Order: sequence, then structure tokens, then C-alpha cells
Amino acid sequence: MGKVMIFDHPLIQHKIGIIRNKETGAKEFRELVEEISMLMCYEVTRNLPLEEVEIETPIAKAKVKTISGRKLAIIPILRAGLGMVDGMLKLIPTAKVGHIGLYRDPETLQPVEYYCKLPCDIEERELILLDPMLATGGSIIAGIQFLKDKGAKNIKVMCLLAAKEGIEAVNKEHPGVDIYAAAVDEKLNDHAYIVPGLGDAGDRLFGTK
Ligand code: PRP
Ligand code: URA
Repeated sequence: MGKVMIFDHPLIQHKIGIIRNKETGAKEFRELVEEISMLMCYEVTRNLPLEEVEIETPIAKAKVKTISGRKLAIIPILRAGLGMVDGMLKLIPTAKVGHIGLYRDPETLQPVEYYCKLPCDIEERELILLDPMLATGGSIIAGIQFLKDKGAKNIKVMCLLAAKEGIEAVNKEHPGVDIYAAAVDEKLNDHAYIVPGLGDAGDRLFGTK
């Protein structure tokens, strides 16, 4: 079973509180999604392997740690996952970025794929799949399957809000995939929106309705 890691850090919880507020406008919403993603990135990358290299400080030779050759890629699910990319790249600027276009059909609630462009060597990379909302789990499950079908072996999911049933669904379909979420909400409403949630993440990021 994949691990589920919830972020109880006060800074993250504070910022999540602001993005949940319906009075928070698109500019602030975008900035906060970027900041929360950056804070979460710190923990999601905790087990990156380090190696020792020798450098010279202005005073003497020294052995220092550097992140070893492990290749990373971040994969936002369009659209809303785009809001998390810049925060991640601030901390891991050399990560490759792949894109998966999926939207949830409002009638069937099934994910519909419309775009995919991935780094050519994803089977060698550690992949972090980004989507702020894990509701029924359908989009994340499809995204993970997509990556696996293309040869990916090492996948983590990072979202801001997750519903319990979405987490269960992802765990059931893809038990080897760890999930990192800033908060877990109790339920979904009749339209499969997370309650209390934050509304439609794509619309709030991009000012659409
Ligand atoms: C939202 C969200 C997830 C999905 C979550 O995207 O960003 O991708 O819904 O729901 P699920 O867990 O039930 O699949 P949406 O389909 O609204 O597309 P958008 O990002 O283009 O707005
Ligand atoms: N997609 C969103 O953007 N919000 C939800 O609450 C559920 C799916």
C-alpha cells in the first residue's frame, strides 16, 4: 500500500485556509498555490540520494553533499496542475516537466485525455504527478496509468486537497504510489466536488467560470 503523507505544518495549513476562502481572488490564489507547492516540494524530495564531492571553499578543500544523478520530472495534470509547477521548479530548477491533459467529464465524471508530452526517458526518472485536487481520484488514477503505460516505474502524487474516497481509490488501483496532500477533506458533494474544498481549482487559478 502506498504511503499517504499529510502536511500539518502551520505555514501550509495557514495558506490552505486562505485559498479555501471564496473571497480570495485569482492573483492571490495563484501565488499561494505556488508557495504551498514549494513548501510541499521540500518534503516530497526528502529521500533524494546525496553523494559527496570535493570542492574548495575560499579557505580550504572540503567534502560537501550534492544531489546525486537521480533524474526527476514533474508532471502537472492540465489545467490546474500547472499552478503547482513554478513552486516546484523554484526548488528543483533542473527537473524536466511533462504535461498530461485531462479533464473530468461533468456528466460521467470520467477523465478525458486530450494532451500528453513527456520527457523521453521517463522510465529512468522519479516522477512527481501534480494536481491540486484529488476528488474521486479518477484523474490521478488515469494520470498514473498513463505514466505506467509509457514505462514509468517510480511515481509519487502531490496534491493540495484530497477527499478520503479519492485517496482510497488511488491506493486500490495503484498501491505502490505514495500520495502527498496538504489536507484531507471528509467527502464529495453530488457533483463530486470536494467538501468543504476550495471550489474549481482550474477556474480559481485562471479566472474562468
Ligand atoms: C479537476 C482537478 C483534477 C480533477 C479532480 O480538473 O484539477 O484534475 O478535477 O477530480 P477527480 O479526482 O474526480 O478526477 P478538471 O477536470 O476540472 O479540469 P481543469 O483542471 O481543466 O479545470
Ligand atoms: N475538481 C476541482 O477543481 N474541485 C473539486 O472539488 C473537485 C474536482
